[in-house]
Amino acid sequence: MSDIDLIIRNEQKEDYRAVEQLVREAFWNLYVPGCNEHFVLHNLRKSKDFVPELDFVAEKDGQIVGQIAYSRGIVRGNGREDEEVISFGPVSVLRAIQRRGIGSALITHTIDLARAMGYLAICIYGDPRYYSRFGLRCAEKYDIRTADDKFAVALQVLELKQGSLRSVSGRYVESAAFTVDEADFAQYDATFPPKEKKEAESQREFRVLASLRY
Ligand SMILES: CC(C)(COP(=O)(O)OP(=O)(O)OC[C@H]1O[C@@H](n2cnc3c(N)ncnc32)[C@H](O)[C@@H]1OP(=O)(O)O)[C@@H](O)C(=O)NCCC(=O)NCCS
Repeated sequence: MSDIDLIIRNEQKEDYRAVEQLVREAFWNLYVPGCNEHFVLHNLRKSKDFVPELDFVAEKDGQIVGQIAYSRGIVRGNGREDEEVISFGPVSVLRAIQRRGIGSALITHTIDLARAMGYLAICIYGDPRYYSRFGLRCAEKYDIRTADDKFAVALQVLELKQGSLRSVSGRYVESAAFTVDEADFAQYDATFPPKEKKEAESQREFRVLASLRY
């Protein structure tokens, strides 16, 4: 897809519902039966950890076809000050036009902007086969562990300035906005059209990746 086709712009309040619908469609049955990423985004935007300057949508022919949102988290070191890092997610693209560079365009655009804004590093949970292409590396390299103090294959880190994590290590603690209250979620999800929850092969792959902790 050429850059001329695609507009990357900050998300506006008027986009919120359409973007949540897009996120729901993109994630549905992919990692678990159903999904809650649209609710996470809904909550994240109201959280103190939300980074509005890094909240973007991709628009093609007047339609929103992709989105990315960022939040602040911390790396909590033993006997050290907490260090602020940022994380992206959810990030999603309309299913029908995935694998045409839109996700990469959103990620690259916002990584460059985050670097220019002076953030230290990005920490995410995701598939290394995809995110390594953006320079993300297994967090173990920096002695960064999960909140419950394990190394995890899915936990990946990108220094936004060379050496910015040299003296940073510890447990990555993501924003509390990612914690979902199931009753609130059920009420919220019921405001969208009904969709069938199903098992899918992609869920098995996700479970394997998520279980790789040591
Ligand atoms: C992940 C996502 C945002 C990528 O956006 P996209 O526009 O489809 O991706 P791009 O066209 O920029 O990149 C496509 C490449 O990424 C790879 N890729 C995409 N998702 C991948 C994944 N989950 N695991 C491994 N590779 C993946 C494709 O194989 C393709 O590689 P290739 O170019 O070598 O063939 C999009 O596929 C999506 O919305 N997926 C569903 C939601 C999701 O999983 N979000 C990420 C949660 S961590």
